[in-house]
Amino acid sequence: MSRPARSASKPSGARPRGSKNALPRKVPLRYQSFELEALKGLEAVAEAELREVPNVRGGGPLASGGVRFQFAPDPLAGAGWERLSRLRGAVAVYRVETWDVPRPKALLGHQVLGEVLDYLRGVARAGGHTSFRLSAAGKDSETFTRLQGEIETQLELPHHPEEGELLIRVRPSEATVSGTSEGWEVLARITPRPLSARQWRACNMSGGLNATIAYAMHRLSGVRERDRIFNPMCGSGTLLIERSLLGPQDALVGVDLSLEALACSRTNIAAARRQIEVAQVDALHTGLPDRSFDLVVADLPWGDAVGSHGGNAELYPQFLQEMDRLTARNGRLCILTHELKLFERVMAGQSRWRARELFQVYSGGHYPKCYLLSK
Ligand SMILES: C[S@@+](CC[C@H](N)C(=O)[O-])C[C@H]1O[C@@H](n2cnc3c(N)ncnc32)[C@H](O)[C@@H]1O
Repeated sequence: MSRPARSASKPSGARPRGSKNALPRKVPLRYQSFELEALKGLEAVAEAELREVPNVRGGGPLASGGVRFQFAPDPLAGAGWERLSRLRGAVAVYRVETWDVPRPKALLGHQVLGEVLDYLRGVARAGGHTSFRLSAAGKDSETFTRLQGEIETQLELPHHPEEGELLIRVRPSEATVSGTSEGWEVLARITPRPLSARQWRACNMSGGLNATIAYAMHRLSGVRERDRIFNPMCGSGTLLIERSLLGPQDALVGVDLSLEALACSRTNIAAARRQIEVAQVDALHTGLPDRSFDLVVADLPWGDAVGSHGGNAELYPQFLQEMDRLTARNGRLCILTHELKLFERVMAGQSRWRARELFQVYSGGHYPKCYLLSK
């Protein structure tokens, strides 16, 4: 008797390999060490976002301010570290490997050097880096000059001391610093550019906001689908684009007085493939109907790159008044400013808004504060 032809419908549990409906296999997760770098003052925001990533474990703040954690890429999705490179609250993410050696010179020993180079090669391949640079205390020493030469020849990556894409940091491990053990760690940034340098930023403007700060402002003001959001003084569009990337909202509108800033914001909005309305309107006299918005987010002029301290003394109180008119009864107003004394004075001189400090952040030599105001 000839063998019966196979039935088209297979018994459960016997699906062919590679079939779209294949049952998930159990593949062990391989955890690797990483470090997250955040702007000083935004560590908690960046860490909260990190905790939402699947397969992240351990970690905690380091003395350096970074957050060390372990992450296992999903082997079934074949996604590698891509998920980490989509973090918006972090400045950068580094792979970390530690070698139990007493001083950096020992990294040049035959076996250890081979391991270091393999590790860096893996990061460069995964991230598509095309050049490198070293950051270490004493990086001009003979040891680091030799390490640099080895990386250049063995990995065939050019060394660019200022702009190198694969940023390699060599430092004593935290355990060494605390005296519990010895070791040197080599950190390698997983992306060619910092995460804070967004892909969408096609146009830069003097006084443009660091995108991770914009992200933090939105996260801490509340991301709500029903919000009608206004961004007066939108400049290059950072707050608008970052909000749009966080999810839907009922309305999202930006205005600025400067045609140059508006052109810049439109270029960035197009690069981000978003549809956001921006218009040339004076934020102090918008002409918009009362209570048009639930949330206003504003990066006010700080009086250095944009505006003047004298001008701000008039602008700030008028701004609070117009935003009071424009916001709903339970509206929120999120303000970032470096005019701290002026802001406190203006707040003390009015009774419509109550302010709660959300964060103070170090960015580009400034320490602006972010406040959330409610009525
Ligand atoms: C600190 S910058 C905003 C930067 C912006 N967050 C960015 O990421 O590019 C302040 C902006 O306020 C605008 N501005 C100043 N006074 C204004 C007013 N009365 N109405 C509308 N825009 C104004 C300036 O043209 C400038 O673009």
